[in-house]
Amino acid sequence: MTLADILPTLAVSLADKVPAHLWPDTTTQDDDLHVAGVRLASVAATFGTPVTVLDETTVRARCRAFRAALPEAEVTYAGKALSCRAVLRWIAEEGLSLDVCSAGELAVARSVNFPASRILVHGNAKTPDDLKAALAYGDVRIVVDSLDEIDQLAALARSRQRVLIRVTPGVDAHTHRAITTGTDDQKFGFSLATGAASDAVRRVLSHPNLELTGLHCHIGSQVRRVASFELAARRMVDLIAELHPDVTIHELDLGGGFAVPYLPEDDPFDLAGYATRLRVALHYECQSHGVPVPKLIIEPGRSIVATAGVTVYRVVTVKRGPTTFVAVDGGLSDNPRPSLYGARYSVRLIGRTSPARRTPMTVVGRHCEAGDVVASDVPLPADIHAGDLLAVPCTGAYHHLLASNYNQVCRPPLIGLHNGTSTVLVRGETEEDLLRRDVG
Ligand code: LLP
Repeated sequence: MTLADILPTLAVSLADKVPAHLWPDTTTQDDDLHVAGVRLASVAATFGTPVTVLDETTVRARCRAFRAALPEAEVTYAGKALSCRAVLRWIAEEGLSLDVCSAGELAVARSVNFPASRILVHGNAKTPDDLKAALAYGDVRIVVDSLDEIDQLAALARSRQRVLIRVTPGVDAHTHRAITTGTDDQKFGFSLATGAASDAVRRVLSHPNLELTGLHCHIGSQVRRVASFELAARRMVDLIAELHPDVTIHELDLGGGFAVPYLPEDDPFDLAGYATRLRVALHYECQSHGVPVPKLIIEPGRSIVATAGVTVYRVVTVKRGPTTFVAVDGGLSDNPRPSLYGARYSVRLIGRTSPARRTPMTVVGRHCEAGDVVASDVPLPADIHAGDLLAVPCTGAYHHLLASNYNQVCRPPLIGLHNGTSTVLVRGETEEDLLRRDVG
């Protein structure tokens, strides 16, 4: 073989290498993708496709990065990004607290004995069952979100219950509308601007069995601008100062929302910059208002698990026309994010090399909707064909738990990878699972 024979293949395999910051930390790339020392094509062969893998090392590394960046803060993992027993065990071992938002998430936490003192319970419309489950769990903190909830909680609580109040600080996070939660006139929290937040404080104080420990806000998700977090912190300290000295706020929870990169051109979130700027803003504001600096709580969800996950699909068919559509064996039911938020993803061929030219193609799913797109305009080899394997990075957050049975398609398994071994964390759904609930 001459150098001229080898060069195109080398160029092609380099072109296939989606940048390292989009894959789990333990990834190595050649004609295949290896995560934690495990070849993803062999995971597909063993467990079938679609399949989502989760790299334990990456999850633990993200936990440690947050704790190291903000050692003074209580780092609280937002379980809605991905909660299953294994992940909650890793989170607990890494010393993080846990944010849950339903009785269901509490049940998963209970199944691994997650310490009550490290649980915060959220939700804009907690049902009586959610509240009862929270009270039954033990000494959790509940982030109250409406006057009705405050009164119901006070009526249900048999002992003194710690609460935080969710505040809407009127801050635009400059993210997708569906995941913007800090602006006024929306369903989350008590508005600062209208005075509803101060009313909520008074309502909590009127119940002797409720103990107000803190204030909370969460301005949105996939937030890139540190300035938005700083502004939220300043507004929250304004409220703390307004309440002072009658009420002392011990904890300030500024929520999650730290952006993660999904595309090669996306920069990673500047966590060190966030930590420094937030610390300065908080200390400066507290000092200038003459109030004690509260303990900081932050709630990263996506940024703990997103990059740890990779989903592997098998190509079912390729339709060539003005647009080349590469249809895979999953899509909308395991990843509704493109249709919900216009989310965009990267893709690469795994399991074989191809000398073919790279051309832009659209990877679509198998569901009966034109909006069922996995990734549009992604460069893939022109000889792509049925049976090929495609890997999609950054599928660790808001995939497994956003999945549905649309078209009665079974949800894929979640496979943990660590030190060269693969472990089923959540098994794939079967048709018996679907029929078990259908008892009519
Ligand atoms: N804290 C609270 C109160 C939240 O509501 C959330 C997310 C978080 C923390 C964590 O935010 P993160 O760090 O993960 O951005 N399904 C959407 C995301 C919804 C986020 C809901 N709340 C998506 O797939 O983009």
